[in-house]
Amino acid sequence: MLTQTPEAWGRQALGDPIALLIDHAFLEMKAAQNAMELMTRWPNEWTPGWVETMTSVARDEAAHLAQVTRLLMRRGGRLERGHKSFYAADLRKLVRSGKTGETLDRLCVSALIEARSCERFMVLAEASEDEELAAFYRALFRSEMGHYKVFLKLAQKMGPKEEVEERWQWMLEAEARVIAAQPPGSRIHSGLAS
Ligand SMILES: [Fe+2]
Ligand SMILES: [Fe+2]
Repeated sequence: MLTQTPEAWGRQALGDPIALLIDHAFLEMKAAQNAMELMTRWPNEWTPGWVETMTSVARDEAAHLAQVTRLLMRRGGRLERGHKSFYAADLRKLVRSGKTGETLDRLCVSALIEARSCERFMVLAEASEDEELAAFYRALFRSEMGHYKVFLKLAQKMGPKEEVEERWQWMLEAEARVIAAQPPGSRIHSGLAS
């Protein structure tokens, strides 16, 4: 990540922990769907371990979804219908379509979302005075860090080293602009209120 989330963001986001958990649940759901979707799009040349990797990520995300939903229910919240993540939608616009770069871009975007979520979970863990939430965010940090590494490693197999590296740097710069432009609120990828 080219930009770091300040501690103040964590305190703001935790202002409405139920809203934060609801947003989080949808993100886990979408992460599971994304992994299953990627699973069906393996590159032309067979990539060893592709299906295993994607199913394993999807399994982790489904487990996270179950955990976050349980926490939410115990605290009297409930999942609402419909959810929009402007952050992920903005990142998805960076994906080139129909070209050989599509799989590379999708893997880069997946890696970016994992990396930013990871960073946000650590900020939340540190900002939370609620021990249960802090421990939960800390555990997720470790898991999402693993996913970030997996996606980035697969991305690196999608083309010549310099080409992938250049695209990844471009993506990192775009992500920094996208996250900075998000509106504030109790969401995992929200912006900072001034
Ligand atoms: Fe997750
Ligand atoms: Fe993940």
